[in-house]
Amino acid sequence: MNKISTKLATYFFLVVLIMDIFLMFYLHRNIINSKVDEELSTLLANGANHRDVLMEHYSDVTIKHIVLMERDANREVIITDQQGAILGKSDINVTHIEQLNPILTGLHTEEDKILVSNWRDSPYIVSAHPYKVNTGQSGYVIMFFSTAAINGMVEDLTMHFGIAGVTSFIVLFIVYAVLSNVITRPLIRMKEATEKLSEGDFHVRLTVNSKDELGELAGSIQKLANDLERLKSERNEFLASISHELSTPLTYLIGYSKVVSRGDLTEQERVQYLEIIVEESNRMKELVKNLLELARMDENSFTVKKAFFAACPFFEDIHKLVEPSFSLKNIKLRLHCEGEYQLFADALRLEQIVINLLDNALNYSDEQSEVILHVSQNEEKTIISVKDSGIGIPAKEIDFIFEKLYRVEKSRSRAFGGSGIGLSVVKELVEAHGGTIEVKSKHGEGSTFTITI
Ligand SMILES: Nc1ncnc2c1ncn2[C@@H]1O[C@H](COP(=O)(O)OP(=O)(O)OP(=O)(O)O)[C@@H](O)[C@H]1O
Ligand SMILES: [Mg+2]
Repeated sequence: MNKISTKLATYFFLVVLIMDIFLMFYLHRNIINSKVDEELSTLLANGANHRDVLMEHYSDVTIKHIVLMERDANREVIITDQQGAILGKSDINVTHIEQLNPILTGLHTEEDKILVSNWRDSPYIVSAHPYKVNTGQSGYVIMFFSTAAINGMVEDLTMHFGIAGVTSFIVLFIVYAVLSNVITRPLIRMKEATEKLSEGDFHVRLTVNSKDELGELAGSIQKLANDLERLKSERNEFLASISHELSTPLTYLIGYSKVVSRGDLTEQERVQYLEIIVEESNRMKELVKNLLELARMDENSFTVKKAFFAACPFFEDIHKLVEPSFSLKNIKLRLHCEGEYQLFADALRLEQIVINLLDNALNYSDEQSEVILHVSQNEEKTIISVKDSGIGIPAKEIDFIFEKLYRVEKSRSRAFGGSGIGLSVVKELVEAHGGTIEVKSKHGEGSTFTITI
């Protein structure tokens, strides 16, 4: 009984039933009433006709003729005189006349009158038509119409209505079957799909055939399943990358710590190995810091504290900070920033953004190349671009580089030491500032990242 289709069918059933009952009752009553009315007026008209004829040509022959005229199956006639004696009658059963006697003997009417209209219980409906002839004779023409015909019609009508009722029940069952097919089945499939999802099985295939709300719901569940499947594989890839990223420096740390603890090293070797240990530890620290940053961004728990500060001195400081790393790789880092405009941003976050981009430019450029950091102002916005002439990004990969842990040609980036977090952090930070980031790149020729904030 919890099925939606059963509920719908029940409501549908009740509505149809109430409508059916009302309609049938209304029609039944009206059809019968109008039929009875029609018969009564025919009876009155015939009676009046006979009476008129009788009054014009009062004679035994006329009485006989009138009686002969009412020899059909449903109608009968009696003609009486003033005292109630029967002057002429058709084939009507004597007992019916006797039953009518109490009415006929006390009958005093100047006008045509329906004597019996109860068609349900009485065998005839009866009308009386008084006549009075100049020669002094008077009496009644009494007309009878057999109610068997009306009762037969009522029976027929009731049977037809019964057939209509049964047909509507059958239609109702067909509707129920269709409803359960069209509504319940897809719902059951969706329920099974969501159960599979909650158990962690994301291989869900829901076929969306209809364009209605059910189709949309199935589409949404399918999308959810696809997203969860993608997230799951991303998470696995993420964990694999993290373990790889952490295990490489750890291997160095363990190896070099063992070497350093040996007693047979020269002072110079010990310093060299300790430097490697410090370098690797820093790399790990950096990675863990980035991961934490990413986790906090996912929770939206970081805040951007904007303030006004002078643009060019800010970028000059960054240039000073990173320049040595560029010189070490023989790459020229140039800064173009002119004018005295102010920036409205979170200085710490903006520094993080720019350093990340410069870090990429450094990592993915060859020696002897050039990297340009260009800052300009356009109306209310500041445009910051980092242009390198390094290895570039293949066109088919460009849409994905801002995704977490995405690296172009994984082996290539790993060789460069990246973990695929930098740009996703940059994007989140830029968006938190209400800005945008764009990239133009040609494989083998270089890339330009442009931020507008
Ligand atoms: N300037 C660039 N030139 C060429 N490829 C780039 C450049 N910047 C980013 N990429 C590609 O985009 C990928 C994603 O960059 P992202 O900065 O997010 O990660 P990463 O540099 O690999 O690691 P990290 O988290 O240490 O920054 C990189 O792996 C690299 O392949
Ligand atoms: Mg990077």
